[in-house]
Amino acid sequence: MKKGKKLYEGKAKVIFATNVKNLVIQHFKDDATAFNNKKKAKINGKGVLNNRISEHILLNLSQIGIKNHFVKRLNMREQLVKLVDIIPIEFIVRNIATGSLTKRLGIEDGTVLDEPLLEYCLKDDKLGDPLIAKEHIYVFKWATKKEIDKIEKCLLRINDFMIGMFRGINIKLVDFKVEFGRYKNNGKNEIILADEISPDTCRLWDAKSEKKLDKDRFRNNLGNLIEAYQDVARRLGILYEQANITPIKYMKPHSLKFKKTK
Ligand code: TMP
Repeated sequence: MKKGKKLYEGKAKVIFATNVKNLVIQHFKDDATAFNNKKKAKINGKGVLNNRISEHILLNLSQIGIKNHFVKRLNMREQLVKLVDIIPIEFIVRNIATGSLTKRLGIEDGTVLDEPLLEYCLKDDKLGDPLIAKEHIYVFKWATKKEIDKIEKCLLRINDFMIGMFRGINIKLVDFKVEFGRYKNNGKNEIILADEISPDTCRLWDAKSEKKLDKDRFRNNLGNLIEAYQDVARRLGILYEQANITPIKYMKPHSLKFKKTK
């Protein structure tokens, strides 16, 4: 398989063409942005960790029947994924109120929601990814009712699965954002989960201390982002525990030893 030209560059990832039909390469950069690109930094090793964490979560989701774009990891920063036509909506699922929800509606930070709250944002950087109603999606034909019904079922299953997976490693899944795309399969369009699921796109709190283990460390200047992402990877069992050597906390990303996944 050959890597072709750059097809798309986003804030944290780049998509490259390949010579294989319907497959592209997703490359994870070290760039971190927040507040609609107003705050920017390069955080050494973030892309490597997100590549692994997203692979792990998407592989687990495919094992419970959630179809997604992940095909295989190619190297430290790249994975082979199915080429999709991304639906221009950011789907947000919330279990605990924080972030923009608390600011927008004055809800107390940390309020546990009685049931998962689904929110929709238009994926448009120039407009600052505005919150929209489901009706906007239908009126402006960003997706059909059938597609949204399917996606909502999927969102709740992803949420249930991830709550349990993180709960098992003493992490609370506070909220997350996912994206879906249309994949051409034998002439038919199939809706599949795409993009990434990582501490860049989820809010993860330690179950006991409520220490933030996600991109809020960057957004809110809390520091030690790499250490937090490594902690998540270690708890998920995808980073080797190495006895009697430098604690993972102090290891450089390129010297990390990951477990074989396949
Ligand atoms: P919010 O509280 O800032 O709206 O974020 C909700 C969730 O969505 C949180 O897990 C972070 C994630 N998110 C992204 O992945 N990308 C984005 O551009 C934004 C605004 C949020």
